[in-house]
Amino acid sequence: MLLMLLLFWLYGVRISYGQAGSPWNTEDNDYYYDQLEPENLLPKIVTKSQEFSAQPGEDISLPCVVDRGWHSLVWRRGGNILWVLQNSNGNFLLQTVEQDDRLGRNDTSLTIKGIEATDEGTYTCELSDTDPPRNVMHFLKVRVPPTVVPANGRKVMTIKMGSTANLGCNATGNPKPNITWSTEGRVLKVGKNLTIANAKPEDNGKYRCTASNGVGRPASTTITLEVMHPPVVRAQETEVYTGVGHEATLACFVYAEPRAQVQWYRKGGTPVDPIRLIRTVNNHKRYSLQFVRVHLEDLGDYTCNATNFMGNDSASVRLSARPKPVRYSSPHQGDMESNYTLVWDVESYVPVLSYEIAYRNDTDEEDHWITFSVPGTTSSSKYHSMSHTFTDLEPGSAYHVRVVARNEYGRGDVNESFAFTTLDAAGTDYPTYVQTSVEVSAEASNQLEDIVSEAEAGDVSQETQKTAAAASEALVNQTNPEDITRKEVSVAGQAVIHDDTSAANELSPKERKMQLMALVTAISLSSFF
Ligand SMILES: *[C@@H]1O[C@H](CO)[C@@H](O)[C@H](O)[C@H]1NC(C)=O
Ligand SMILES: *[C@@H]1O[C@H](CO)[C@@H](O)[C@H](O)[C@H]1NC(C)=O
Ligand SMILES: *[C@@H]1O[C@H](CO)[C@@H](O)[C@H](O)[C@H]1NC(C)=O
Ligand SMILES: *[C@@H]1O[C@H](CO)[C@@H](O)[C@H](O)[C@H]1NC(C)=O
Ligand SMILES: *[C@@H]1O[C@H](CO)[C@@H](O)[C@H](O)[C@H]1NC(C)=O
Ligand SMILES: *[C@@H]1O[C@H](CO)[C@@H](O)[C@H](O)[C@H]1NC(C)=O
Ligand SMILES: *[C@@H]1O[C@H](CO)[C@@H](O)[C@H](O)[C@H]1NC(C)=O
Ligand SMILES: *[C@@H]1O[C@H](CO)[C@@H](O)[C@H](O)[C@H]1NC(C)=O
Ligand SMILES: *[C@@H]1O[C@H](CO)[C@@H](O)[C@H](O)[C@H]1NC(C)=O
Ligand SMILES: *[C@@H]1O[C@H](CO)[C@@H](O)[C@H](O)[C@H]1NC(C)=O
Repeated sequence: MLLMLLLFWLYGVRISYGQAGSPWNTEDNDYYYDQLEPENLLPKIVTKSQEFSAQPGEDISLPCVVDRGWHSLVWRRGGNILWVLQNSNGNFLLQTVEQDDRLGRNDTSLTIKGIEATDEGTYTCELSDTDPPRNVMHFLKVRVPPTVVPANGRKVMTIKMGSTANLGCNATGNPKPNITWSTEGRVLKVGKNLTIANAKPEDNGKYRCTASNGVGRPASTTITLEVMHPPVVRAQETEVYTGVGHEATLACFVYAEPRAQVQWYRKGGTPVDPIRLIRTVNNHKRYSLQFVRVHLEDLGDYTCNATNFMGNDSASVRLSARPKPVRYSSPHQGDMESNYTLVWDVESYVPVLSYEIAYRNDTDEEDHWITFSVPGTTSSSKYHSMSHTFTDLEPGSAYHVRVVARNEYGRGDVNESFAFTTLDAAGTDYPTYVQTSVEVSAEASNQLEDIVSEAEAGDVSQETQKTAAAASEALVNQTNPEDITRKEVSVAGQAVIHDDTSAANELSPKERKMQLMALVTAISLSSFF
């Protein structure tokens, strides 16, 4: 009703200025203009058309500055009149039409409080005083920061291996946000949906979709894809070396979706004793079987078997008490022309019965290995260190050697062969024997310093410290060969070199030095573990 009245009234105004001097004019209406009036006397909107942008919640003022006296001004949005302002000699009369508390006036400007997304559109300020009416149009753009949620609210998507996953995100915002898909920081695709065809177990994981439209901060959400697949089982180590009476842990990694039933079996299919052995699983999918004290009959082959409804898989692990493959610790380049001392160490919980040594020269095309055995070693720890000096070698020649340790439970595996080279006779500027000896001593005492400082760090037993100190003294007083021999033998109980004292007495000074190096290695190993 109000609107009808208003329109009627507006119409009246038009007629009143359309027909100059018409009897409809009221006596105080000094502000009508007729078409004959010169242009420079008509009211004019000074404000230029503009695009405004605002974010939700903000307030905005759309300007409309009018030059020269005017009578009636209207703000409308599209075809809807928002308010009308009458100007009668500077006395303003405001008539609001649109019932919205957020709309207001500041002089001739339209104000909108608490912008909403739906406020976006074209707003027109119009003077009814002229014919045709003069106006200015502003465009209000409401810029809405993005939001994003997984399409259909599915945060987790589970599919079978080989099928197709269609991940979708539902984003809002103005302008319409662009969507980017990524996984582990790697961008996969720009676009609404992410399709993963022929899904594989490795496609498992979290997929992030990020919506951005340049307004505010980008929004993101993640969808977890679970590709159901049969278990894949991997042994952590295919052989675990132990000793009877010692602790041991077998472990396998099980990758399965859904989670698999995991069982440990003895070779042949008997399940392991669930009371004596501790089974654990951690969140890295590691399943372990712990032996607090290994019994003789525990040694042998085990199977880690995992089953889910998609299938099953297994991995074998051997629990053994044989020696580990040996590790070589002497330098590849020897410092003598016809001799070379090889130093190695090996782990065995029981005495090493013997070492089988095989070597050949590098130029021998027939791959002819010379083999022999040397006596084994006993040790108070599982670390054994040993050396052997090869004599009658050719100067400046390359050789390969392999050492295998054997204990009562069997032979260790062969490590890859070790290459060494004898000193070249032509190398005349090479340090003399005495100088070399000093060099090695310095190196050995450096190693000992390391051991002692580690011992001081509180990690090693007092006994090891004493041994290290004694060995250190023995090194310092190298001038007295008898002394060295005594020291070596006295520390031999801690980290074995030779169990035979007479054998030690027969050693050359050079060989003793190398054995001391072996001792150093043994000490450093035992303090290490
Ligand atoms: C009205 O507009 C004037 C000039 O644009 C401005 O200085 C003033 O703060 C505004 N008043 C309100 C209440 O917004
Ligand atoms: C996206 O969101 C809108 C509103 O939030 C909803 O109407 C629509 O169904 C959603 N679409 C999907 C695919 O989830
Ligand atoms: C995108 O994914 C949604 C839900 O995952 C689905 O409804 C829509 O049809 C998909 N759109 C396209 C183009 O694949
Ligand atoms: C979406 O991406 C296209 C192409 O990169 C770009 O031109 C456009 O401006 C982006 N839109 C938004 C809202 O960021
Ligand atoms: C385990 O897998 C084998 C083939 O790898 C299959 O023959 C056997 O039926 C499976 N067992 C179970 C219990 O799923
Ligand atoms: C794992 O155990 C299941 C059930 O005992 C058996 O059917 C399957 O053959 C085993 N799988 C392997 C690979 O040993
Ligand atoms: C073989 O020896 C090297 C050093 O000589 C060592 O690093 C490696 O661990 C050994 N291999 C095995 C299987 O013990
Ligand atoms: C090499 O070894 C032999 C036999 O042990 C020994 O007689 C000789 O002195 C050694 N040569 C050197 C340079 O150490
Ligand atoms: C290497 O071995 C072959 C055969 O055993 C022998 O004939 C040759 O002289 C050897 N060479 C060296 C440098 O020792
Ligand atoms: C080493 O030599 C120093 C001085 O010559 C002597 O005081 C010390 O007792 C000797 N140590 C040993 C272990 O022989």
